[in-house]
Amino acid sequence: MHKVVLEEPHDMAAFRDATRALLAAGIAPDEVMWIAGDEGGLFDALRPRGGAPVTVPAAFVRLAGDVICHSDRERLALLYRLLWRLTHGERELLSVAADPLVHRLLTMQKAILRDIHKAHAFVRFRRVQEEEGERYVAWFEPQHWILDRIAPFFTGRFPSMCWSILTPVGSLHWDGDALAHGPGVPKGEAPPGDALEEWWRTYYRATFNPSRANPRMMQAEMPRRYWRNLPEASLIPELLAEAGARTATMLEAAPTVPRKRISATEPLLALGPDTSATAGGHGLDVGENTTIARLRAEAADCTRCDLYKYATQTVFGEGPEDARVVMVGEVPGDQEDLQGHPFVGPAGKLLDRAMQEAGIDRGEVYVTNAVKHFKFERRGKKRIHKTPERPEIEACMWWLDRELAVLKPKLVVALGGTAGRTIFGRPVKVLSERGRITEDSRGFSVLLTVHPSMILRIPDEDGKRQAFADLVRDLRKAA
Ligand code: URA
Repeated sequence: MHKVVLEEPHDMAAFRDATRALLAAGIAPDEVMWIAGDEGGLFDALRPRGGAPVTVPAAFVRLAGDVICHSDRERLALLYRLLWRLTHGERELLSVAADPLVHRLLTMQKAILRDIHKAHAFVRFRRVQEEEGERYVAWFEPQHWILDRIAPFFTGRFPSMCWSILTPVGSLHWDGDALAHGPGVPKGEAPPGDALEEWWRTYYRATFNPSRANPRMMQAEMPRRYWRNLPEASLIPELLAEAGARTATMLEAAPTVPRKRISATEPLLALGPDTSATAGGHGLDVGENTTIARLRAEAADCTRCDLYKYATQTVFGEGPEDARVVMVGEVPGDQEDLQGHPFVGPAGKLLDRAMQEAGIDRGEVYVTNAVKHFKFERRGKKRIHKTPERPEIEACMWWLDRELAVLKPKLVVALGGTAGRTIFGRPVKVLSERGRITEDSRGFSVLLTVHPSMILRIPDEDGKRQAFADLVRDLRKAA
């Protein structure tokens, strides 16, 4: 039996070195005992190094990078067993989801992604005054070793604050410039509540919508173990108890008319009768039970391409399920990524204005993107949008196909080249093909037009005005 030790129990580079050496020496999984630094018993252990690089499917690299963070002590042995099989005649093994080993590892990967998502959603900072100034400190209890995985999210989100995230197994400390790792901290050392919590509770109470309160969903999303660290948790029983009565009051109240901003130059048109070609086959059969809400929940844990590693969250499409028009953009931008909603940043504001002038009520339209995770390049503290590439577009078509199959819109509006290419499945020439309603291979009527961010990039005001008017002219066809 070969004992192999990883001093850092979740160190992917050390695991890779070790597995290369084991594969090079032809040592089968049953002959290896894996010992990680946190798990004791280091006597007589080998620290294998070297071995030739091995080619493995990219999906294995992603899976291993996630699963190595799992708290299950068998994680290393399971990963090596999978690697062994992939490199000994079962190269396609990862596509066999029913294989017990693959199934177990995919379930572990899901648990990691969920833990990361929970950390992003439920870490709450409390302000503490230190000699050097203010620091925001959060206490959190992850299930797995995810500190390194969540660090980029918090440094990106709060670059100019000093903050610490304390957990029982390690801590992160950011001083506005550099990230430091520290030891685990007992819960007693986390700071108690402060004035910010009161502010947060007031905000939570004000934004809590009683008619949408669903205790089962809330608990599924926010398991009880997180409650003790959430300032708003103490309000939940009371708000749920009041929800029925508050909803009844809302139903009895006279309906309010949504405020419409009417353009000075253009009367607001009602959405006209459907003049587009009859909707045809609509591609996929997704079954009756598939809903947009269900797709959105599944997409929250999407790892179909690598963009999820750097983005804050999946930005799924939004709008009514009976929308007759679906607008498809390219990829969420910085604001969309932070807020979790499509087209809410500068391009979204411009699109809203154009829709309004064209006589389209955004509330009646389903708005989504071809790619659902923000793609960016960091420049200093800024995150600069990058155009998604073919593998990301192809990976994400899975979601758009399903959104369209559920919604069965009368018209799909493709905003810009990436959306056009995704829908038509071929490169499009936006400027020469725009403004016409054509049919794609699945029977959807599609109107191609420019992406609003193209208009934002036009330097001169006249050019911008003209491009905006052209967009409005195209969108009127949708109206
Ligand atoms: N650009 C897009 O294509 N989509 C958004 O959601 C925002 C900007």
